[in-house]
Amino acid sequence: MAERADVFFVDGVRTPFGRAGEKGIYWNTRADDLVVKAMIGLLERNPQVPKERIDEVGIAATSQQGDQGLTLGRTTALLAGIPRTVPGYAIDRMCAGAMTAVTQVGSAIGFGAYDVAIAGGVEHMGRHPLGAGADPNPRFVSEKLVSADALNMGKTAERIHDRYPHLTKERADRYSMRSQQKVAAAYAAGKIQPDLVPIAVQSEEGWGLATEDQGMRPDTTMEGLAGLKTPFRTHGRVTAGSSSPLTDGATVSLIAGSDAVKEFGLAPKMRMVSFAFAGVDPEIMGLGPVPSTEKALRKAGLTIDDIGLLELNEAFAIQVLALLDHFGIDDDDPRVNPWGGAIAVGHPLAASGVRLMIQLAAQFAERPDVRYGLTAMCVGLGQGGSVIWENPHWNGKKRSR
Ligand SMILES: CC(C)(COP(=O)(O)OP(=O)(O)OC[C@H]1O[C@@H](n2cnc3c(N)ncnc32)[C@H](O)[C@@H]1OP(=O)(O)O)[C@@H](O)C(=O)NCCC(=O)NCCS
Repeated sequence: MAERADVFFVDGVRTPFGRAGEKGIYWNTRADDLVVKAMIGLLERNPQVPKERIDEVGIAATSQQGDQGLTLGRTTALLAGIPRTVPGYAIDRMCAGAMTAVTQVGSAIGFGAYDVAIAGGVEHMGRHPLGAGADPNPRFVSEKLVSADALNMGKTAERIHDRYPHLTKERADRYSMRSQQKVAAAYAAGKIQPDLVPIAVQSEEGWGLATEDQGMRPDTTMEGLAGLKTPFRTHGRVTAGSSSPLTDGATVSLIAGSDAVKEFGLAPKMRMVSFAFAGVDPEIMGLGPVPSTEKALRKAGLTIDDIGLLELNEAFAIQVLALLDHFGIDDDDPRVNPWGGAIAVGHPLAASGVRLMIQLAAQFAERPDVRYGLTAMCVGLGQGGSVIWENPHWNGKKRSR
């Protein structure tokens, strides 16, 4: 009989994130190679884990074609030098792909089927623009199952502004500016770099090394944001400044059960407490993390007040503000994305879930006063995903705020 186990996030790394498109650092780099480089980096950092003992490699991508096709978990494991005996698969839940990879392999570990697994995701939005090559069933629109707008994420963000007029453009812009400033401060303090795997990149100037996120705009001002176009609606409220930019990048994590932690002498960075996914109307997909967080809290027997750190994916400023508003949390609450978020570092769709976890894990190490943290994100076509984590460094005392 399989032994049930606690599930741990042992470690996670990512590539620096690049701007999608011809000016992006990864324009000449294959998507699967981004995963391979990150995977090699992860394994080098965790030499105690024998590669042949990895039970599964789950890698997500939203667009599963071309260099993101062919069962990424299997192909990237082979390319990374993981023994052929180790199986792998590909997974897709759009933006929550890597998060789902973690919860899937984590569930198998919890059930006792696996001891150790790799979970991550990639999106090369330059090579695979969102929705390119997809053929949505015409019934979606002809039978009014969803509005045609629901397939354009920026338009769904405009609809959240419509629904909550008190969450103004000015608030979304301020939130976005702060995200840029927080990421810049985190970089200056050396918080982000330790979990980045440098990637050799080729451009017209020759070979170079990508060592930091490319899309950051640390000098963002409220005036600059106020003057930007609203590409998703004439006289709208969502701009390039309050959206996550189109991004290329990959993330991977090492997930293990209690026995493997003991056997290999691992020092896990987080314990999985609960997770949940939930659906909402596709037209307001950004609200997805509200019900998924409610559900994950309920499963964990916790309330939002128990959560000392929130790593929320900033697909759009407005959808983060809507979640904060729902839970009665201030726009600039220090528990929220203390090192900034996707508006500044980027959001390579299926990769981002593990970036949130990497960032939360690094904060846990610095915050023994915090017991629980949340990673949460919205998902295209109307879903949300939330995972609650426990800090192994928790000092057993009550948090001051
Ligand atoms: C919003 C979006 C359409 C903008 O794309 P883009 O036009 O290629 O973006 P750019 O980076 O070129 O920015 C557009 C302009 O805004 C400016 N800009 C962007 N961020 C800025 C900031 N923080 N401060 C000042 N200016 C800024 C750029 O400099 C650029 O100006 P220019 O036109 O004078 O060169 C694109 O980023 C997008 O679709 N984002 C959402 C992605 C998405 O849906 N993800 C899934 C979520 S579920």
